[in-house]
Amino acid sequence: MIPRLKPSYDLSDWKAALSFFSKGNVQAFEDEFASKFECAHGVMFAHGRTALYALLKVWGLEHSEVICPAYTCVVVADAIVLSSNIPVFVDCGEGSFNMSYEGLEAALTEKTRAILVTHLWGYAMDVERVAEIVNRAEKKYGHKIYVIQDCAHSYGARWQGKMVTRFGDASIFGSNIAKIINSIFGGMVLCHDQTTSENLRTFRQQHCRRDRSKSFKRLLYFVAVNVAFNHLVYGLVHFLERNGWLDRFVKYYEEGVIAFPADWDLLPCEIEARVGRNQLRKYDRIIADRQKQSRAIIEPLETRKDIWCLPFDPDCTYSHLVALAEDRSRWMNFYLRHGVQLGMLIEYSIPYMKAYRQYSRGDYPVSKSYSERAINFPTWPGCDFELKEGS
Ligand SMILES: Cc1ncc(COP(=O)(O)O)c(C=O)c1O
Repeated sequence: MIPRLKPSYDLSDWKAALSFFSKGNVQAFEDEFASKFECAHGVMFAHGRTALYALLKVWGLEHSEVICPAYTCVVVADAIVLSSNIPVFVDCGEGSFNMSYEGLEAALTEKTRAILVTHLWGYAMDVERVAEIVNRAEKKYGHKIYVIQDCAHSYGARWQGKMVTRFGDASIFGSNIAKIINSIFGGMVLCHDQTTSENLRTFRQQHCRRDRSKSFKRLLYFVAVNVAFNHLVYGLVHFLERNGWLDRFVKYYEEGVIAFPADWDLLPCEIEARVGRNQLRKYDRIIADRQKQSRAIIEPLETRKDIWCLPFDPDCTYSHLVALAEDRSRWMNFYLRHGVQLGMLIEYSIPYMKAYRQYSRGDYPVSKSYSERAINFPTWPGCDFELKEGS
């Protein structure tokens, strides 16, 4: 069976995971990651959401409005609320998965102190236009508004040739196994400013916990993931997942609850950084494969009337190849019968979720319609997925 996603692990990742005597990898991973994505500093955390939480804390933001897309991973909004701030949601622009520029401008108020510029699926936002909007608002309200690039899907995405990480005050990354490259679990902040980086390190030292069993648990997880994603085993995994027996491992949110996982504040560990460093070395190859695979799927889709996707974009990192289908379950079931699992990313619009209705300010029709129609195709290197006749 072809899974909807699969981490790009090979023998070199096993070697990295098992190199128990290699030390100093967290700092080395932070430095190499920062240099690869053109920033001066990197600070690693347990998850991407922890990275965002830490940033909002070190900038001293509390009871402030933080703008983010309505159509993004809900853990982003969780980090905003749990850091004692107020999420303000902006709907997607028509014909784009990212938030609308007009919606962003309209959402800015005198209480806005930060903006999450999310480059969903790896499609870069116009970071220069965002900077102009923010500059105008800063002049109007007379205070700084922090700009955070959310690069969880867009490691290395470029806007007009320039990496999006070069813009704004900081960038955040998530690096769990569903991401383009991963450090088993993990998150990173990249920034250009030394004080922010030093404050993040102090925050980590003061607020993150050491857990002696974490490395062992991560090793077990790494082994389990390698077994689970083996094509001979994945059919069984998929069966268990469909029946809800793997919820503990795969479900990352609950409709009515705003909470972090129990390990959110653990210090990053060596095995995570070793695997992360190895993955980073393979980054260019992984992206080239994903783009090639995505192009091969997009071109035939473009001629169809029952499904919509954006044209191929050579600057997009294709963390996921998402299309909007009129009849999503027909597509999912058709491919399931052919041994292929399609995904349903993202299947919610945050302000319509039970826990977030209290933060809703009106309607978010574009993201709502996306959440009902989105399907994503396997694009992981080596997946050999092809659109089938009759789909
Ligand atoms: C767009 C986006 N931002 C941030 C994150 C946070 O990453 P993490 O799951 O490591 O907390 C995710 C997670 O999937 C994401 O999709």
